[in-house]
Amino acid sequence: MNSPLRLGIAGLGTVGAGVVKIVRQKANLLAARAGRPVVITAVSARSRDKDRGVNISDYAWEDDPVALARRADVDVFIELMGGSDGPAKAATEAAIAAGKDVVTANKALLAHHGQELAEAAEAADCVIRFEAAVAGGIPVVKALTEGLAGNDISRVMGVMNGTCNYILTRMQSSGLPYDVVFEEANQLGYLEADPTLDVGGIDAGHKLALLAAIAFGTRVNFAGVTLEGIERVTIEDINHAADMGFRIKLLGVCQMTGRGLEQRMSPCLVPASSPLGQLEGGTNMVVLEGDNVEQIVLRGPGAGMGPTASAVMGDVMDIARGFRLPCFGQPAAGLAPAKPARTTTPAPYYLRIGLEDKPGALAKVAMVLGEAGISIDRMRQYQHEEATAPVLIMTHKATRDALEAALADITRLDVVDGTPVALRIEAT
Ligand code: HSE
Repeated sequence: MNSPLRLGIAGLGTVGAGVVKIVRQKANLLAARAGRPVVITAVSARSRDKDRGVNISDYAWEDDPVALARRADVDVFIELMGGSDGPAKAATEAAIAAGKDVVTANKALLAHHGQELAEAAEAADCVIRFEAAVAGGIPVVKALTEGLAGNDISRVMGVMNGTCNYILTRMQSSGLPYDVVFEEANQLGYLEADPTLDVGGIDAGHKLALLAAIAFGTRVNFAGVTLEGIERVTIEDINHAADMGFRIKLLGVCQMTGRGLEQRMSPCLVPASSPLGQLEGGTNMVVLEGDNVEQIVLRGPGAGMGPTASAVMGDVMDIARGFRLPCFGQPAAGLAPAKPARTTTPAPYYLRIGLEDKPGALAKVAMVLGEAGISIDRMRQYQHEEATAPVLIMTHKATRDALEAALADITRLDVVDGTPVALRIEAT
């Protein structure tokens, strides 16, 4: 048998404990598949004594993750601490400087420092692998980097934050408003310590930026992701969208256009009958489109001990087998600076406008849209008790600029009450 691959794990939270479990319980399977034993030699975490439901007494302990990263008996540094800077970054840099391969679940770290870390790793002849950072147990990094390497990728999109999908689908099934369901999710322990990471779209935005780098051969550019969270999604919009055959999802979309790289994470309408529309609860889904493969859809658990540890181990096993590839699928020096598109690809939009129920009110709205060159596809007005009627309009394709100009004019109309809502309808 060949020499063992020796792992050092920094961070023994849910995912770290899951990795320990797999390595201990599946030692024979892993050794058979890799042709060599895969063992843990050292670990590091905030507390040594915490009960994690796994036995770590066989492993050397380091209080300092940087010291762990430098240990001579560690071949692969597994970074499961999280955070874009601080100890996670310091320890990852130390591991690379010491010539160790790195496996990480840390999307924030790579979204902010992916290019410099990838360059450092290549200079040191090391690899950085991050399957667990994107969509938990779904092997989407592998699919995009390896399986679809023979395609020009035209679009990557998906639901990449299970907590947001849980909140939106629970709102729809229960009829409860956002605040109530947010609190439910909190009680269930679904939210990150900083909930804005989830509901503000930041966590999913990090993941999208990493996939965009692989898909389009560009340097990771999280700052170029247009971010909007789910906080302003109301139960009224969820119900109205459903009534018109749509679901509202926090949807990440990246595509290379003639105007530059488009990366957006925002609440969008998708057809209720589409795979994305049917995605319930905390599950993730990523849709990959390439010129040869057309479209493939990957669905699975986006978080949790088993799924995320499964993704970590997939990367570990590649390294154990001697399979090495650049962090973002091509040498880091060859990644082009991402030129963000200043405007988004035209799309149909869902509009909800509170309109005084009196003669000529609707005509005024229609006139503004017409003058902006925006054509109405469908329209609905609901029966109402109040003086303001909720009017829903689905437009044909429009540019965001034209839409925003029209919305500003519509908001100023004397027959319009409140601020209109506009949500993009994404073709699936
Ligand atoms: N908080 C994330 C989610 C998982 O809800 O999908 C970690 O990225």
